[in-house]
Order: sequence, then structure tokens, then C-alpha cells
Amino acid sequence: MAKQSSLKERHERVYRALMEANQEHLLRWFDELDHTRQAHLLDELESLSWQTLATLVKTHVLGRPHVEIPVSLEPADVYPHQPTDDLRDRYEEARRLGRELIAAGKVAAFTVAGGQGTRLGFDGPKGQVEVTPVGNKSLFWIFAETIKAVRERYGVPIPWYIMTSPANHRQTLDYLQANDFFGLPEAEVSLFSQAMLPAFDGQGRALLAEKYRLALAPDGHGGSLKALVASGALRDMQKRGIEIISYFQVDNPLVKPFDPLFVGLHVTTGSEMSSKVSPKVDDLEKVGNMCKGDGKVMVIEYSDLPDELAHARNADGTRKFNAGSLAIHMLDVSFIQRIVGDTFELPYRRAEKKVPFVDDHGLSVEPESSNAVKLEMFVFDALPLAENPLVLEVDRAEEFSPVKNATGVDSLESSMRDQNSRACRWLEAAGVNVPRKPDGEPDVIVTIAPSFATDAEDVKPKSSLVPALKSGDRIVLE
Ligand code: UD1
Repeated sequence: MAKQSSLKERHERVYRALMEANQEHLLRWFDELDHTRQAHLLDELESLSWQTLATLVKTHVLGRPHVEIPVSLEPADVYPHQPTDDLRDRYEEARRLGRELIAAGKVAAFTVAGGQGTRLGFDGPKGQVEVTPVGNKSLFWIFAETIKAVRERYGVPIPWYIMTSPANHRQTLDYLQANDFFGLPEAEVSLFSQAMLPAFDGQGRALLAEKYRLALAPDGHGGSLKALVASGALRDMQKRGIEIISYFQVDNPLVKPFDPLFVGLHVTTGSEMSSKVSPKVDDLEKVGNMCKGDGKVMVIEYSDLPDELAHARNADGTRKFNAGSLAIHMLDVSFIQRIVGDTFELPYRRAEKKVPFVDDHGLSVEPESSNAVKLEMFVFDALPLAENPLVLEVDRAEEFSPVKNATGVDSLESSMRDQNSRACRWLEAAGVNVPRKPDGEPDVIVTIAPSFATDAEDVKPKSSLVPALKSGDRIVLE
């Protein structure tokens, strides 16, 4: 009885909040639900600030926020991949400092893995996708093995934080547990969930996925900054003496999260948030553009960069906005501590998506085209808030080949090809003979496990362990 009356009280409170936000339809099926489902719905509704959402509905759902392109927009200043003569000593010094900081246990790995991976069509956490050219190793395996290799090389614990979403948290944890965290000490792997936001229809009404459940979606990787604080992960980092967070997306198997040069330059330039870029493959490549707008470093997403700027040329004919963001960052723990307060928010972006929902008659609808608006924050929108943001150009072939789409560009196939090319390049640089086809492509398929090498230089001392390669061979070096 007590439970019932408390449900009733909660219902009344929530109903009032929803009324003020024009969302009371969310409780229209309440009376026909059993108590468990009533409580579930109330839990979800109570976890959201309907007052804040009402404002966002006005600006981002009923309205279309205009993405301001700063009047003075220039390409960001970029530290080159190969140092010029005047930078050579600085790069050497940065590498030395980077190695020192990693060895002192000041750098943690952070993977954002809360996305829904809809484009890939894989039903489950993307980190479980088996991406290696041979050996069926998953993205999570690659990252864990990389961290393990770095841990062993430097002889220091390297904590790994993974941001999930409530939609894939359990599955991600089960997967890592079932695989014994791929050899990492469990105490050094922390998972936490990001926040979710409702999806809205064109009239600004939040959608129900079922009569007792909202249609919720993760609040974007920009939600990671708040989630790091809210989950206690940032505090945990501070306790462990972590000062720098190496941030990377779950989709890129070539990422090098412990790059001494990047760590070192981040620190010597006094940067609070740093980014890696590489030259774009074409004017309209679907990557963010690293720019300087009104003096601030910022990313202008490919979809927001006006065409004339995307096609703009320098006097020598080269592409003007050429620095593509690889979504690889270093963030100071103290930077997140400084900016994330109670009212902290990054700008919200609007995305139109297909979202299944329960209609006004209580029937489930599977829409065939976009029917809903989702709201997301992007982590790169923190760049303009950072002091001295550093941008470093890297060799894409060495560090970036994400798995995003089922086929074509940035797919499993293209990523496996790039992983294989990199492995073969590393072998050849160490003096190993790699059979090649007439068109120059490798005629072998090789996976280099991070336990074997995390960089080209690691291969040389082990080259005698590599068996003689013949055309058609498929090998995993681990
Ligand atoms: C992203 C960047 C783009 C960059 C490119 C490089 C955006 C909007 N764009 O594009 O600037 O050049 O990567 O590959 O980010 N994620 C979460 N929670 C969420 C949403 C996403 O953790 O709520 C994670 C995903 O799991 C994934 C990553 O963020 O690891 C990327 O998200 P996605 O939406 O696929 O970004 P892209 O459009 O691929």
C-alpha cells in the first residue's frame, strides 16, 4: 500500500513537471501498466530535467540552431608531422618528456564507446567487432593489448577508462569479463555510462519506445566530460595520480594512444586539450575541419563547413582547410575539473534519425525515414574553452583507419587493408621480405598484435622471430 501511494505521489510530481514542458502525453498509458513498469517509467522521467529540455525543444527541435561560422575563419596552426629544422630539438625534447610522463603513470587511456554504431549494422557494442586482417581480434582486444604492452614496457599501471551508454554497458562489461579483460588487471579497467536524452518528434514531443519506456539516445561523445565527473572516474584518476587523458574513439584500430611526442608537445606547449589531424583525402571528406575562428581553435564538422570554404585553395593551389580531425585528443584532468561545473554544457547539435516509437493509438511504429530529432554534444566543442590547444599532424596510414560503415570508405574492409599495409610496412622497415603483387599490394595477410609491436621500431629487434613469408601466407605475430 505504502509503495502504491508513493508511486502515486511520484506520478503527481512528474506529471506537473511534464505539464510545464508540454510532455504530459508520456504518462498517457501509465494506468494500464503494472507497478514495475510504472516505476520504471517514473525512474526514467525523474532522471531528466524537463525544464532544460523544454528550452532545448524550442531552440533545437522546433527551431533549427544555426551553426555559427566565425567571420574570420582560418585553418588552425598545425605542428607538422616531420619537424622542420627549427623544431627538431623541440620534438626530441617532447618525446623524452612524453616517455617520462607515461613511465611516471601520469597518462590514462580513455575510449568513448557509447555510440550506437547504427551505420555499421553490428548488433552489439562496436568494440566487439573483430577487425584484424587475420586472427579475428576485436577493437577492444587491440586497445587492451596496446595498453598491456605499454604497461609492460614502462613497468607502470596504465588505467583504462571506457565510456559506454546505458544501452550497451552490460554487454560491454560482460564481453570484457568473459575475456578476462584481455590480460589487464581488472582493477585498472573502469567502465562508466554516459547520460541519455529523449528523442523528439517534429512537434517537439518526446517519443516513447514502449508504453513504459522513453525512446532515449546517448547524449553524444561531448557527454563524456560530464560523465567523467558524474561517474567519479575523474576523481579516480586524480587519486591514481593521472594528469593527462588520452582520448580516442572505439572505431579506430590504428590509434596510438601512448605517443610520447603527442604527450610531450601537449605538455611543453601548455595545452589543456590537444588534437591529432591529418591532411584530408578530399575537399568533402567526412571528418571535422580543424580551424581557427575569431582566434580560437575549433572543429567545424564536415556537414557545417560551407562548400566554398571546403573547396577553397591557397595561393599555391593546395587545399586551404586541409587539417582533418582524427578525433584523437589529449585532455588535462585539471582542464575537465576546471570547466565541468553544475551548469556546464557544451553546445547541443541536432540530428535527424529514424527512431521506432509508440503512436497515439498505442501501436509500435517502425519508421521508414527520419521521424525524430536527437540531441548530441561533441567533445571537440571543448577546444575553444582550452588554453593553448595544440594540433599535431600525423601520418594517417600509421594512425587512422576507422570502422564506421558496412562497406566502402571507413569500412571493415578498408580498415583491414590499412592494418595489413601498416603491418607489412613495419616488417619491411625491419628488413623482412614481404611478397607483393604486381600492383604493389602485399601478397600476404599479417596481423601484428600489440604484444609483438606497437610501433615500427619495435619490429626490428624481433625480426628474426618472423617466419619467411610466401605469397598467400596469413599470419598473426604475437
Ligand atoms: C567523428 C567526428 C569527426 C571526426 C571523425 C574521425 C563527430 C560528430 N564527428 O565522426 O569530426 O573527423 O569522427 O573518425 O564526432 N560516441 C559515444 N557516445 C555518443 C556518440 C558517439 O561514445 O553518444 C562515440 C562512438 O562510440 C564512437 C565515436 O564517439 O567511438 C564517434 O562517433 P560518431 O558519431 O560515429 O562520429 P563520426 O560521425 O564517425
